[in-house]
Amino acid sequence: MSSTDQISAKIIAVANQKGGVGKTTTTINLGAALAEHGQNVLLIDLDPQGNASTGLGVTPDRRAITTYDFLVGDASPSEAIQPTSVTNLSIIPATTDLSSADIELISNEKRSFLLFDALRQLPMDAFAFDYILIDCPPSLNILTVNAMVAAHAVIVPLQSEFFALEGLSQLMLTIREVRQTANKSLRIAGIVLTMYDRRNNLSQQVEADARENLGGLVYTTVIPRNVRLSEAPSYALPALVYDSNSAGSQAYRELALEVMAKDNIQLKRVS
Ligand SMILES: Nc1ncnc2c1ncn2[C@@H]1O[C@H](COP(=O)(O)OP(=O)(O)OP(=O)(O)O)[C@@H](O)[C@H]1O
Ligand SMILES: [Mg+2]
Repeated sequence: MSSTDQISAKIIAVANQKGGVGKTTTTINLGAALAEHGQNVLLIDLDPQGNASTGLGVTPDRRAITTYDFLVGDASPSEAIQPTSVTNLSIIPATTDLSSADIELISNEKRSFLLFDALRQLPMDAFAFDYILIDCPPSLNILTVNAMVAAHAVIVPLQSEFFALEGLSQLMLTIREVRQTANKSLRIAGIVLTMYDRRNNLSQQVEADARENLGGLVYTTVIPRNVRLSEAPSYALPALVYDSNSAGSQAYRELALEVMAKDNIQLKRVS
């Protein structure tokens, strides 16, 4: 985080253009785990599917103001940010509005900076967030680019399946482009293996390949395939609340500690 940045929160985009790899599950449960560890967390639902909003119990009647309004400047932070049932975890919810063509129509230089500008407006300070997690859509579109321009770092969920590594080069290319054009200091916070099945050779093979090719970028913590993680959204709760002791919940707690520890190292290095 640069010393001239106008926001003290650590902003992390959770991104992978591949669908169904665990972005939303990671955003919700990493958010809940960071909150449980005492961090003040904002989750921004940047996916028109609105899965993170549904998974955290934001019913349609509570989506009158959404990420879309926040992005285009029609809603202030205090209008857009809502509490969730989890202490220390707030959300800006999304609806299909977010796929609106208006964003595409905003002049070229500005349209990648909508989220950056919205998050750096002064009233954000009052919320004193430690972490802002952005749940990206399964695409490298203008919304994901907005997340990467606004963020300090990207977390990439990687499903422990065959072909998992194939889409990564496209994602890395986009990150490199954003670095070259709009956000020099953007980095990859880490890659997290999701839906990992210890008894499955394929999972082990994907893990071995990822660690060999991507080295230290891969978090030590792996997220197991765990039915509690997939059930929790239908109860409108993070797995950490729905079944606190489940293997999935424990794994996301570990991941949160790893994310926080990496940040401490970074902060120490700059000072
Ligand atoms: N570790 C896990 N164990 C079991 N099920 C999981 C796990 N992680 C995610 N799932 C399930 O897999 C599906 C896809 O997960 P999720 O919605 O988090 O992926 P996504 O990358 O956000 O998808 P999209 O690209 O559509 O936004 C969901 O049904 C979710 O409940
Ligand atoms: Mg999702």
